[in-house]
Amino acid sequence: MKPILEAQNVTKHFPTGGGLFQKKGLVKAVDGVSLSITPGETFAIVGESGCGKSTLARVLMRLLDTTSGDVMFDGKQVTGAQGTALSALRRDVQFIFQDPFSSLNPRMSVGRLVGEPLEVHAPELTKGERRAKVSELLAQVGLRPEHADRYPHEFSGGQRQRIGIARALASGPRLIIGDEPVSALDVSVQAQVVNLLGDLGRDLGLTLILIAHDLAVIRHMSDRVAVMYLGKIVEQGTADDLFENPRHPYTRALLDAIPDLDDQGGASRARIEGEMPSPSAPPPGCAFHTRCPHATELCRTKVPAPEETPDGHMTACHHWQDIAVARRKTTPRSRSPATEARLELYAKATEGTQIIPVASKTPDREETK
Ligand SMILES: Nc1ncnc2c1ncn2[C@@H]1O[C@H](COP(=O)(O)OP(=O)(O)OP(=O)(O)O)[C@@H](O)[C@H]1O
Ligand code: SF4
Ligand SMILES: [Mg+2]
Repeated sequence: MKPILEAQNVTKHFPTGGGLFQKKGLVKAVDGVSLSITPGETFAIVGESGCGKSTLARVLMRLLDTTSGDVMFDGKQVTGAQGTALSALRRDVQFIFQDPFSSLNPRMSVGRLVGEPLEVHAPELTKGERRAKVSELLAQVGLRPEHADRYPHEFSGGQRQRIGIARALASGPRLIIGDEPVSALDVSVQAQVVNLLGDLGRDLGLTLILIAHDLAVIRHMSDRVAVMYLGKIVEQGTADDLFENPRHPYTRALLDAIPDLDDQGGASRARIEGEMPSPSAPPPGCAFHTRCPHATELCRTKVPAPEETPDGHMTACHHWQDIAVARRKTTPRSRSPATEARLELYAKATEGTQIIPVASKTPDREETK
């Protein structure tokens, strides 16, 4: 199938310093990423804080320009798109932000927040038609038509994220990028919003790019996963296969650092031995060599090229074949009790999250303040 989104050797470097007391530097936030996303799939990007996930997401939808490399959406250049091509991109690719508290203008009613993209992308609609469409969109995300007259502060975090999703759906997008769309929410609410996104993706045929720290969310929702380290994709594969049979030592370390179910907020982020080096001074050779238990002299000097494994992963590690043999002797950690418990939570939390026709709308489980 023709990819909906492609990135070819994309870099995004931020110049830093250069002031009176600061040395000039370059933060290599994204450093040679290539990927290809198929229509309708949910593609996840994971990795520790600061590895470049958000920068990559912003570059993919042209919220930031690339330093080099190409991004193509539906076969057309995203890099350098202007005028009608850029407007079409703004309609077709939408973003869901992490923080539902600051991403919605508090002075706009929900009706205006959700209706605004319609004014831009469907100017032919009459006022009445637009209001009907807003009601339909609110119902799709599990809210009621009368919520259109209220303001963001009157809603809970989960409901605000639903408003953000309705706003993202308003332009009729084909691709939605969610950057940590549930990490600011309570665990029980997270499960509902995660399932809502999954249902919408499936029922509307959307392509989703999902960034999340919670690997159980990723496991539950994604078809394919890319693992990032210091601006590069180090492993890529189907979610099932990558979780059951990780090839790259960094992916293994991430899976081994899966947090406990009750461990929320900052503490729930994956912890791996040692500090991630600064992207302004990445180590030579394999950037993971400073923390990798398998590192050899080769790793310290030569950047590993991406290789395809027999099970269809792409992995960038000089020694993946030797490490794969060692791995078979150990128990996979991806099925840890904590992951199982969270997956069970997602499996249970389906009520109130399906796409609901306006007429048969059932009450939302979360409370409106
Ligand atoms: N505008 C900028 N100027 C300079 N450096 C930046 C800028 N934006 C991001 N960076 C740096 O680029 C690197 C990648 O940042 P990014 O926000 O993409 O990481 P991330 O993987 O999304 O992290 P997190 O999981 O914490 O959200 C970080 O070192 C960050 O400090
Ligand atoms: S290339 Fe070497 S340092 Fe890098 S992940 Fe593989 S074994 Fe570890
Ligand atoms: Mg981020």
